[in-house]
Amino acid sequence: MHTLIFATNNQNKVNEIQSLVGSDFKIIPQKEAGIDIDIPEPHDTLQENAYEKAITIFNITNQNCFSEDTGLEINALNGEPGVKSARYAGEGRDFQANIDKVLINLDSLENRTAQFRTVICLLWKGTNGMETYYFEGICKGHISNEMHGEKGFGYDPIFIPEGASKSFAEMSIEEKNTFSHRQKAVTQLFEFLRSR
Ligand code: IMP
Repeated sequence: MHTLIFATNNQNKVNEIQSLVGSDFKIIPQKEAGIDIDIPEPHDTLQENAYEKAITIFNITNQNCFSEDTGLEINALNGEPGVKSARYAGEGRDFQANIDKVLINLDSLENRTAQFRTVICLLWKGTNGMETYYFEGICKGHISNEMHGEKGFGYDPIFIPEGASKSFAEMSIEEKNTFSHRQKAVTQLFEFLRSR
């Protein structure tokens, strides 16, 4: 059984990933590991931010850990909000303000295609020291004209994945996981760990 600390304070991410874990892994959210800090995300790429979160927790715990950073990339907005998804409408990290800004910016635009992209950084204690691995998951879809649904978090109420006719916020965690960026990245992480 592999035990891994998950470097996040986002309970929604924890819930989505916990629902994918089999009995062969134990995922410990950073808070349960006794770490109550908010790790900054100062970089220009998801990969660098994911590394920053993971290395901060690794340096404190010296245990195998992983983190993930996710962005919503909207084609007509040149990939915005992207790496700035959490703070698109300001430092308050307000989900509703972020959604409002997306809907306003897309108002006169026809192309509403977008994708969520998740990058996971795994820091693994190998025989010759710490090893770093990355896993990526992409979910393509489009931005709806208005909000639908109450579930999920972040941009879920305005994102409709390809192959679905409802938003992520209208889906259970299990249904969201059949489409999601996070599930695709985590599945690769678990496959890698099973091969260790
Ligand atoms: P983070 O920097 O990876 O924590 O995520 C950046 C922001 O992207 C979050 O604050 C959410 O607004 C948004 N986000 C991340 N993952 C999802 C998701 O699965 N659905 C909807 N929004 C998400």
